[in-house]
Amino acid sequence: MKRFLVGAALAVAACGHAAGSTPTAPTPPTPDPDPLRAAATSAGKLVGAAVQSSFLNDSRYSAVFTRHFNYVTAEYEMKWDPIERTRGAEDFSGGDAIVSYAAAHGMQVKGHTLVWHGAIPAWVNNLSAADLRVEFERHIRSVASHYSGRVVAWDVVNEAISDNGFGLRDSIFRQNLGDNYIADAFRIAHEADPQALLFYNDYAGEGLGGKSDAIYDLVRGLRMQGVPIDGVGLQMHIRAGAPPSDTGVAANMRRLAALGLRVNISEMDVRIGDLGGATTANLATQKTVYHSIVTVCVAEPACHGVTFWGFTDAHSWIYNQYGADAPLLFDTQYGPKPAFYGVLDAFMRR
Ligand code: XIL
Repeated sequence: MKRFLVGAALAVAACGHAAGSTPTAPTPPTPDPDPLRAAATSAGKLVGAAVQSSFLNDSRYSAVFTRHFNYVTAEYEMKWDPIERTRGAEDFSGGDAIVSYAAAHGMQVKGHTLVWHGAIPAWVNNLSAADLRVEFERHIRSVASHYSGRVVAWDVVNEAISDNGFGLRDSIFRQNLGDNYIADAFRIAHEADPQALLFYNDYAGEGLGGKSDAIYDLVRGLRMQGVPIDGVGLQMHIRAGAPPSDTGVAANMRRLAALGLRVNISEMDVRIGDLGGATTANLATQKTVYHSIVTVCVAEPACHGVTFWGFTDAHSWIYNQYGADAPLLFDTQYGPKPAFYGVLDAFMRR
């Protein structure tokens, strides 16, 4: 049986020579860590990362990505604005590049996202309610048909619950199309791509609490109406200093599973920028958080997989949103961080 090296063993192996001795040979390169994708597969889970197509041309980025991941999500390029900045002129080139890359490297793809209040083309904001109805339906049908057979899942509706968890977000969709826009989106997506698993995706509702209750009530209502929804994505953009409790996340996954839904952890990153400790301690805390959340997914049969919102600290949306940080599994030089070993151990049930 293949043995998985842990971080400490790698650090020793990479050290080269004993202190004080004269080096006689070049320091051996740090061995590659064992692939996450093999570990995830052995746990029956997918392990994914969000990417941007332009990064795939970077050989260092591409080598780490293909070694460790078997699931990919477009971080940006399958959203409405990048696809249709000009009304009627759809451009699928970014998403298509990701899909072709995935096919060439044995990865599955999750589309992200058909309906979201963010990344909406400017022209959509100026439509009448009647025109928005037409464009909303056409957009979902067109994009889901375009990728039909090439994605295994879609985040159909993203972040439709208000930020504080009280009621639906007052987006242009809700204002102009009414609350049923959510059910409509799932029905249209299902018609356009009957094979794809269809997810509702949201943030800050990972464990138990008001917002996760609101998400639960929403998807329960959809199930009761017979809307074709297959699962819920728990984004998991979290702070290492205040992670959701693992028992709460497990309980939330179980109640969603009891509705006949699967779940996935869809956009995980763990911020350490506000921890204030020494770097080594912060990275160790981050590792613990990654380990405990991925362990919950491994233990819960309903959990389909874990997708990280990027994989290297060289590229993360966190810097624009929250400032300097190091939220992912690999450092800016593509070396595996303690967080990587936390995730690997969790998939290996250690
Ligand atoms: C973010 C991307 O990471 C950025 O590159 C983009 O500019 C804005 O969107 N929740 C989501 C994702 O569902 O789509 C967001 O992605 C991050 C928060």
